[in-house]
Amino acid sequence: MSTHALRFYDCFPPADSFRSEVLEGLGACPKRIAPKFFYDAHGSRLFDAICELPEYYLTRAEIEILTTHAREISDLIGPGCLLIELGSGSSHKVRLLLEALRPVAYMPVDISRDHLLRAARLLAIEYPWLEVHATCIDYCLRLDLPYCPEGTRKIAFFPGSSIGNFEPEATVAFLRDVARVLQPDGALLIGVDLKKDAGVLHAAYNDSRGITAQFNLNLLARINRELGGRFLLDDFEHMAFYDEARGRIEMHLASRRQQTVHVGGQHFRFARGETVHTENSYKYGLDEFQDLARQAGFQPLRAWSDRQGLFGVHYLSAGPA
Ligand code: AVI
Repeated sequence: MSTHALRFYDCFPPADSFRSEVLEGLGACPKRIAPKFFYDAHGSRLFDAICELPEYYLTRAEIEILTTHAREISDLIGPGCLLIELGSGSSHKVRLLLEALRPVAYMPVDISRDHLLRAARLLAIEYPWLEVHATCIDYCLRLDLPYCPEGTRKIAFFPGSSIGNFEPEATVAFLRDVARVLQPDGALLIGVDLKKDAGVLHAAYNDSRGITAQFNLNLLARINRELGGRFLLDDFEHMAFYDEARGRIEMHLASRRQQTVHVGGQHFRFARGETVHTENSYKYGLDEFQDLARQAGFQPLRAWSDRQGLFGVHYLSAGPA
């Protein structure tokens, strides 16, 4: 499909992966569902609303860094690259870089098909000089790019601290996969939330308007919609807390009572207070993250943080130092 300079590549695995992973996760002990399943069309909109919340400092802090250092970032990257954004969502932050950077093409990569397509269409209209190659894939699996022009330098942009939603071992494996795609001379620009006061973190994941709770509970609503689940949303509550020893926010859905829930022809028992673990969001010091990046084969070249020291952006080379 092609509109303006827009191409769309649909490489997402069949809906079956949602079904099989949910059934497996609800049958496990403790119960868990991977955070990538938050992002159906409604979940993606709720996530955009989270980014606007006064308590969710991550987005504002990262925008401050990208705005303040846009010139230096584009000088580091240089003109004429293929810019690949992982987990592009609404493609808001990339707009801060496009004019200064003038890439030959932009490849937004996301798991949420409709949201991706809508965002890519808007972007292609707004930037008529830019080729847009929208790619729907689950980038948590192997990263295989459907469009990869020979000889063009590849730059990956992974904002929002989505890397924090990977487990530390998976983080290194994922970064190694990204480095493979970017070699021989590419680089990664990545936003990573910093460790900080537990009160600030707690407020960011327990906002006063209850949007994060809706985002978390939407996972059960999605299971009801797509898998014929019978979750009663009022019987579950959002729970998020900071585990300082592990340096991560944990998000769960806790059962308010003892109950049995039917999903996809199976039934799952919940004790009162039992939870489904839906997300970890790891926070990393600047040095701590650079160590992980080195383990994955990157050379850290530059790191910036915002004035309040809440958030970090790293520029990592996938080529030789
Ligand atoms: C996408 N990801 C980086 C967000 C985070 O902060 O871990 C998802 C999120 N979960 C709750 N609020 C936002």
